[in-house]
Amino acid sequence: MTTIAVFVGSLRKESLNKKLARAIERLLPEGVNFEYADLDLPLFNQDEENDMPAKVLELKRLVERSDGVLFVTPEYNRSIPGVLKNAIDWASRPWSQSSFAGKPTAIVGASSGALGATQAQAALRNVLLYLDMKVMGQPEVYFNGSTGFGPDGELVEGSEDFIRGFAQAFADHVKANS
Ligand code: FNR
Repeated sequence: MTTIAVFVGSLRKESLNKKLARAIERLLPEGVNFEYADLDLPLFNQDEENDMPAKVLELKRLVERSDGVLFVTPEYNRSIPGVLKNAIDWASRPWSQSSFAGKPTAIVGASSGALGATQAQAALRNVLLYLDMKVMGQPEVYFNGSTGFGPDGELVEGSEDFIRGFAQAFADHVKANS
């Protein structure tokens, strides 16, 4: 079994990015399993990094026992949401005990407009490369959440094959690099 820790950078109930994560999950190849990280964490405080809150330790353990990590990010003001950056900052600490180093990963994102969180994804890629993660280059997923889902919340026809292709490529990337 291949386990993927999934970071969705939106806490809201009707999040387009949560929908996108669930759509990818439904199209994963057999034997690959998603575990969703809880990013509703206290704000990072370096005074606490050697005695982290229990929820943060849980997040670090999830990443460490996972074969790969998928980041599903909205774009807030042309970058990643604070919720996501906060979680990454916690799990990257303390110095030399980052949970992310060497892990295979990929980034996808949905926005309410046509640009699909393009700039947030670019900003996040920079962070993940600094953290020494093995970032998948292709295919990129810039998802328009307003037109990409039907009224039933499922992917519209045409999106499904593309997202299945992404799910397969990511599973292959994780297997090749973990
Ligand atoms: C946004 N949104 C947005 N969209 C975009 O394409 N570029 C942007 O820079 C921003 N900036 C931004 C800032 C803030 C504070 C909010 C709340 C929203 C719109 C965003 O794409 C939309 O709200 C998505 O639906 C957010 O993702 P979830 O919560 O649906 O997953």
